[in-house]
Amino acid sequence: QHLEMELESIEKGGFEHFMLKEIYEQPRSILDNMRGRMVAEKDHLMMGGIREFENKFVNADRIIIVACGTSWHAGLVAEYLIEDLARIPVEVEYASEFRYRNPIVNERDIVIAISQSGETADTLAALELAKSKGATIFGICNVVGSSIARATDAGAYTHAGPEIGVASTKAFTAQVTVLTLIAMIIGSKRGTLENSKLRQLMVEMENIPAKVEECLKLDAQIQQIAAVFKDVTNFLYLGRGYNFPVALEGALKLKEISYIHAEGYPAAEMKHGPIALIDAQMPVVVIATKDSSYEKVVSNIQEVRARKGQVIAIVTQGDQVIPSMADYVIEIPETSEQLVPLLSVIPLQLLSYHIAVLRGCNVDQPRNLAKSVTVE
Ligand code: G6P
Repeated sequence: QHLEMELESIEKGGFEHFMLKEIYEQPRSILDNMRGRMVAEKDHLMMGGIREFENKFVNADRIIIVACGTSWHAGLVAEYLIEDLARIPVEVEYASEFRYRNPIVNERDIVIAISQSGETADTLAALELAKSKGATIFGICNVVGSSIARATDAGAYTHAGPEIGVASTKAFTAQVTVLTLIAMIIGSKRGTLENSKLRQLMVEMENIPAKVEECLKLDAQIQQIAAVFKDVTNFLYLGRGYNFPVALEGALKLKEISYIHAEGYPAAEMKHGPIALIDAQMPVVVIATKDSSYEKVVSNIQEVRARKGQVIAIVTQGDQVIPSMADYVIEIPETSEQLVPLLSVIPLQLLSYHIAVLRGCNVDQPRNLAKSVTVE
């Protein structure tokens, strides 16, 4: 017993929980996912699994992404990325819904299955169904040799290393990294992504690990914010564009480990429902980085304030406008719009972690949840 405890503390590498360790591993794991695949200086951008099926990807009528949980959120980010950079229509499906609704799939479709564990029963069944209809199946898994990895025609592994905390953190950013590279590769092959933009993205991508490192320095500030809100019963998370999936992921993290009810919403949809919930007791996390929807998100913040909601804003460093409106401001480094999720998700992971710890929750093994769900 004693030995086991000691072993576990060694495995946690000095961190109090696996989740925190895994959050801190992200600069490294993101870098590991670029290694060998991209070198900006040498104009090198290549992924083995994609190369085999390059023509299929370039000529695909559409791409269907199937996944569950956090992996589904990574899929949503990929929808924005692939449609934006490669101009191929993308549908993102909950594997559990897709498999039971007699979906329309054919040989010209590419189905991407995203799964950290590679063992999620619904995701596996969804890809088997798509395979039986002739689609090309591409896998993005973290666990080498897992069932989903073995069932696919090709794929790319996320090199995130083992993820122990039930709430996924580094696997998410690893998935988003791989999906970003894939969108860049297809976009450049299809000619929808200009060379100059591609180069700029590659250079910016290489800066991401250092910028994630900067986000991690917000830890102490976020812990203080967590202390203010640890006893609330509801949270709202808002974002638009590339930050919409991040809002969903932030809310999921909080639900999973702190048991506080949280909803993620596209900021503009707030007026069709959630706005009714906003009062002085409601904290609203707004991801409001400098991007194409910035002005609109600023108006959404004003709408929240007008109803006395407590605004916790994630902004780009140097933002001059939002600090005068928000109750709490968390500044993250500037980056290309397409890469923002890799940074904006970090403070949300830390916020949920600290709230859960302050509430005395079992962060690494939340009640009722499993790391991999091998039953439907
Ligand atoms: C479970 C885990 C989540 C995970 C989801 C999908 O619900 O608790 O963290 O996102 O399964 O898992 P997968 O291994 O397929 O990514």
